[in-house]
Amino acid sequence: MSERQLSTKHVLGIKYLNENDINLIFDTAFEFKEVINRPIKKVPSLRDITVANLFFENSTRTRISFELAEKRLSADVVNFSASSSSVKKGETLLDTVNNILSMKVDMVVMRHPAPGAPLYLSKRIPANIINAGDGTHEHPTQALLDAFSMKMALNDDLRGKKIAIFGDILHSRVAMSNIFCLKKLGAEITLCGPPTLIPKHIQQLGVDVSYDVRKTLEWCDIANVLRIQLERQDIKYFPSLREYHNTFGIHKQLLDSLDSEVIIMHPGPINRGVELSSDVADSDQSIILEQVENGVAIRMAILYLLASKRV
Ligand code: CP
Repeated sequence: MSERQLSTKHVLGIKYLNENDINLIFDTAFEFKEVINRPIKKVPSLRDITVANLFFENSTRTRISFELAEKRLSADVVNFSASSSSVKKGETLLDTVNNILSMKVDMVVMRHPAPGAPLYLSKRIPANIINAGDGTHEHPTQALLDAFSMKMALNDDLRGKKIAIFGDILHSRVAMSNIFCLKKLGAEITLCGPPTLIPKHIQQLGVDVSYDVRKTLEWCDIANVLRIQLERQDIKYFPSLREYHNTFGIHKQLLDSLDSEVIIMHPGPINRGVELSSDVADSDQSIILEQVENGVAIRMAILYLLASKRV
């Protein structure tokens, strides 16, 4: 493994990483991708390190992916779920985390519904913090695994590549982290969805906006399709799920009518039949399960690189 180091002790958001950090994470993940495809998938890199996975919000992929990454690096792992904890009795975030840290935890992976919760903790506790998704703010490890998967699928770097992000941009931490990451890597980005789900003035981040799914698909090399986040929508942003699918959903007939073959991605969980039809999600054009596989390698890389910068 390389002697290069990250410029930061925490991974709180893509906006705190520079291009060298991102490329170092990719180079390290590439080596770990080879490790996790061996018959014996475990290496001793994090043997004396204890990692706490603190999930204050539901997760399937991110949580399992981090736990597998930690175990493949031989870390000791403790898992915490808010729904079955003393948070339900009114304990504060800081008290919860300080109690866990007094049991000698070195690194914390945290998902929390409040934007900025991982940053708040990083200023108050002596552990490396990895943001596993904070409200509508950032989901940096998802963006890193997405960009890594794009590079793998195109067999090239992302400078000048045309990436479209479809769907509920307004409520999406994945969209924000993808935009920050892809901009740092020199990609061109177009956001496409209903006007009600695209934040006003988002063009100031250096992206284009389109409301035309067909034209955007014709333009892009890769379509990253995002979930409609019904649980974060307090008002009606579109008339019905059926109408959303008919106007903004991506289905096989539409893809087959294009001149070129677009690579389809989705961070999961998928609302099948809403933003993506099953025949697209399960098609040869989809790299959704490769994203999940690459997620373990990316998270191993981040844990490994942060371990050499222990606080
Ligand atoms: N992509 C993603 O964050 O999925 P989970 O919510 O299942 O972790």
